[in-house]
Amino acid sequence: MIEEVQESSPQMEEKLANRLFQEEVGSPIPISEVSLEGGERVKTGISELDRVLGGGLVPGSVVLVGGDPGIGKSTLLLQALNHVAENRDNVLYVSAEESLQQTKLRGTRLNADSKNLYLIAETSIERVLKQIKALDPSIVVIDSIQTMFTSLLQSAPGSVSQVREVAAKLMYLSKGTNISTIFIGHVTKDGAIAGPKVLEHMVDTVLYFEGDGGTPYRILRAVKNRFGSTNEIGVFEMKASGLQEVINPSELFLAERPKHEPGSVVIASIEGTRPILVEIQALVSYSSLGVPRRTTIGVDHNRVSLLVAVLEKKVGLQLHNQDVFVNVAGGVKLNEPAIDLGLITALASSFKNKPIDPATIVFGEVGLAGEIRTVSQAELRVNEAAKLGFKRVILPKKNHSRLKGDSPIETIGVSNVGESLEMILDH
Ligand code: TYD
Ligand code: MG
Repeated sequence: MIEEVQESSPQMEEKLANRLFQEEVGSPIPISEVSLEGGERVKTGISELDRVLGGGLVPGSVVLVGGDPGIGKSTLLLQALNHVAENRDNVLYVSAEESLQQTKLRGTRLNADSKNLYLIAETSIERVLKQIKALDPSIVVIDSIQTMFTSLLQSAPGSVSQVREVAAKLMYLSKGTNISTIFIGHVTKDGAIAGPKVLEHMVDTVLYFEGDGGTPYRILRAVKNRFGSTNEIGVFEMKASGLQEVINPSELFLAERPKHEPGSVVIASIEGTRPILVEIQALVSYSSLGVPRRTTIGVDHNRVSLLVAVLEKKVGLQLHNQDVFVNVAGGVKLNEPAIDLGLITALASSFKNKPIDPATIVFGEVGLAGEIRTVSQAELRVNEAAKLGFKRVILPKKNHSRLKGDSPIETIGVSNVGESLEMILDH
């Protein structure tokens, strides 16, 4: 314990940083003379992954892929490496958790059997570095960063100092050689073992692989990207033969939507560069508890509490003695303000027991005064709704007046919550 404290002290971190720097510093070059050669992105062959990366893997970049155990991280990266191996040169998959046989078995399921795809089952970073230098692969995957260790430190694999030191060694190699490195990291709830969080500031790109255990759908999300947009998402379905890309996520998220049921509404959200239509569900029912429940999945709890207060004060809905449950279908997490109007609508629809026309979608931010505020990218959202066969869009008045040209479907601008609910629920 004492050793752990010493190792992650500021002095220790400074020493580590200095060591990295000493090795990296060369002579300064004018910016005009910096070469971009060899900088073309490597396509992984999995378009959803490439898009989340910002258009493929940048040579020499370091990517962290985090996620719960069992979500499909090893599967995704083995598939990606195999694609690259089939089209390009050597790639290396370092399995520090599973034996070669286990990885081979997974590979058989995935049809991953390229001759250029090399495997090694090894936990010592020193030995791995030696092998990387010998093989000179274009991409290295480390599965997982938490099970690797360096003999330089006494602490156990998975401790903060070990994870940082191992990562630093690989990053140094990546930057010097143009080898792209992908770390797999398990998200851990237990503070004793270092989760991917301790690496986020060091790496170029951080991706999280998420999903609801109960469904086969998985979402890959960029939370940091030096080479592309963040908040970009990729959608996959886990099948018997591996992860399959979902090309049109809106269709998927809406497939099981109940029509003409109170509390269900479709909203248009922008995830990264792409509009996605998702169903929001609310259930409002009389509470026998002194303090009624407010439970949310996929949306911020505080946002829902705030909107419940707006509904009480501005529209007079008596929600103070009602339990409120909100869920986003398909395990998606939404956190942009444009979903407010959808939340308000779903809550009011459930409370009043009035269904919403299934051909309508809504979007708009809601302010504390009950006003509907403009949001970004209204046209993208409207077009996505039209593409998927919706007939009507309810959107902020200002966005509505700025829409260019003829909209492919009916669009209605609204300026406050009362007016919106009248328009949507009593239509
Ligand atoms: P895995 O990639 O091992 O997860 P992680 O590396 O994030 O811990 O995937 C685990 C789950 O995926 C496991 O429950 C089995 C399932 N799976 C499939 O459904 N199809 C497949 O083709 C593969 C390889 C795994
Ligand atoms: Mg794994």
